[in-house]
Amino acid sequence: MDKPIIIAPSILASDFGRLAEEISAIDRAGAEWVHLDVMDGHFVPNLTFGPPIVKSVRAASQRFFDAHLMVSNPDRLLADYASAGAEGITVHIEACPHLDRTLSAIRELGCRAGVALNPHTPVDGLAHILDRLDMVLVMTVNPGFGGQSFIEAMLPKIAAVRELIGGRAIDIQVDGGITPATAGQVIAAGANVLVAGSAVFRGGADSYQANIDALRS
Ligand code: DX5
Ligand code: ZN
Repeated sequence: MDKPIIIAPSILASDFGRLAEEISAIDRAGAEWVHLDVMDGHFVPNLTFGPPIVKSVRAASQRFFDAHLMVSNPDRLLADYASAGAEGITVHIEACPHLDRTLSAIRELGCRAGVALNPHTPVDGLAHILDRLDMVLVMTVNPGFGGQSFIEAMLPKIAAVRELIGGRAIDIQVDGGITPATAGQVIAAGANVLVAGSAVFRGGADSYQANIDALRS
C-alpha cells in the first residue's frame, strides 16, 4: 500500500526573525512535519542553529520536529536535540564511522532514526543497518544551501532505495529542489516525505497553504 505523502517544510527558507510565527503558519497551512536543517559550518559550508533555537520554537507547533543534522560527529549532539524537542533525528552516513551504534542511540533517546545520503554516496551502505532505520533521506542537492536545482540523477537512486527497503516500514525522504515541478517525479520513484524550503516559504504566510497543496498535487 502506498504511504501517505508527508510535506516537511524546511525552516531554512523561513524568516528567522519571526521563526516561531513562521512555524505556526506552516502548521496552520497543513504541513505534517517541520524540517530543521542543522548545519555546523564544517560538514557543510553553512552554519544555521543549535538546540536552544529548537527549544525556543518547540511550543510554536505540535507537528513532528524532523531534525536533519548536517554536522560532523553527530553523536555528541543527539541528546541535546532530542531534549530540545526533536522527534526525528537524521544523521549523514558520511559523518558516522559507527552508524549502527549512532542509529541505536537515536532510538534509545525516543526519536525516529534517519540516515541521509549525499548525492555521490551509493545506496549500498544501507544494506546492513535497515533494521535500525525509520527513514532514509536521499539528498537531491548537495547540502548546505536552499534554493538549489534538483539533481535529476537522484531519481534512479530513490528507486534503488525503495527496492532495498522492500516491504519494511521505512520512509523515504527527499530534500533539495523539491517544487511542484519535481514532486511528482520523486513520489513516482518512491519518496513519501518531501522536504521543501523555497517552494513553501514564498509569497508570504497567506500563500503557504497553496504552496504546500501544490506539492501534494
Ligand atoms: C540542505 C538543505 C536544503 C533545503 C531545501 O542544503 O536541506 O536542501 O532545506 O531547500 P530548497 O527546498 O529551497 O531546495
Ligand atoms: Zn534538510
